[in-house]
Amino acid sequence: MQSCGYLTPQPWAPTTLYRTNRHPRLPTQAPRIRLPPSTSAVADPVKNRKAHSMPPEKAEVFKSLEPWASEGLLPLLKPVEQSWQPHNFVPDSSLPFDEFMDQVKALRDRTAELPDEYFVVLVGDMITEDALPTYQTMINNLDAVGDESGASPVPWAVWTRSWTAEENRHGDLLRTYLYLSGRVDMPKVEKTVQYLIGAGMDVGTENNPYLGFVYTSFQERATFVSHGNTARLAKEGGDPVLARICGTIAADEKRHENAYTRIVEKLLEVDPSEAMRAIADMMHKKITMPAHLMYDGEDPRLFEHFSAVAQRMGVYTANDYADILEFLIGRWGLEKLEGLTGEGRRARDFVCGLAPRIRKLQERADERARKMGPHGVKFSWIFNKEVALTM
Ligand SMILES: [Fe+2]
Ligand SMILES: [Fe+2]
Repeated sequence: MQSCGYLTPQPWAPTTLYRTNRHPRLPTQAPRIRLPPSTSAVADPVKNRKAHSMPPEKAEVFKSLEPWASEGLLPLLKPVEQSWQPHNFVPDSSLPFDEFMDQVKALRDRTAELPDEYFVVLVGDMITEDALPTYQTMINNLDAVGDESGASPVPWAVWTRSWTAEENRHGDLLRTYLYLSGRVDMPKVEKTVQYLIGAGMDVGTENNPYLGFVYTSFQERATFVSHGNTARLAKEGGDPVLARICGTIAADEKRHENAYTRIVEKLLEVDPSEAMRAIADMMHKKITMPAHLMYDGEDPRLFEHFSAVAQRMGVYTANDYADILEFLIGRWGLEKLEGLTGEGRRARDFVCGLAPRIRKLQERADERARKMGPHGVKFSWIFNKEVALTM
């Protein structure tokens, strides 16, 4: 089967180029051990995973950037009064019953021509959005930028709460639309969400805000790309309303990408070598999609299979992964980055040379997949219908 940017295993693992701790990424239901908080880097006894890897003195960097965050970050949020809400895009529940049902019927007519595989990808995207408690937890577990009281006025915390509130509409809207479409097995979808939130995620950010903000920069752009492609496919498939929904969500992701890339840009300015090392570290680990532990109670390789369908449909592909990397290299001006230590320069050279390697290794993986011939998998989300994983 084909492999793509967020699939496991990823064929371009550059272990000899820039070595840090390696770790397996296979979805697992094994119990996970939580580490106690610490100010120094400690190893996860299960995965030899580092935690709290930012040197404590670097917390000052984020403290000193608070005024900048208030001025440079918070204006990228949209005021609630000017924000769209999920109900703007779905049948109006305040209408008399018959009129409401007419709108539901129109929705079902529009989605009728969309193929089942489209719904596999849309469900996977919705489930990814719905695991939002995990992402807020991950960000609040980053040292020096977490929300200490739950209602902290520190700009980092204000950003994270408001970002979460904006993101919360994405899963809500996609879930309501999918529910009304009648095209997906909602109890199976809901079960997957419960499993996923219970499983959490492990993407190697080590409670380190340098790593965390590199991850969110990449991740917001990846979701921007993915939702943009589901918008395009909905339009081509005859559902302009669903296209507008996915496009509207994509626009939010773009705004969030802008915010997180601004943070990394600022870190590159004030602490270039540490920020550059963080970019290289995350790219070495490979950016794992946040829903990598998804499970529906049936398919232990669900995430891999969902990712393969997304790759085949062109919703999120290995080329997108390489494109995002190249975009970020340009956005942050990494090729011309100056004032680096020796380690910082090595990190820069590793990152700047990675995209062509990824594309080449992916071509070889695609070639191997083609030789394996057609291969299909049943998805519980669409009533156990089979979807092809390879071309
Ligand atoms: Fe989102
Ligand atoms: Fe997002």
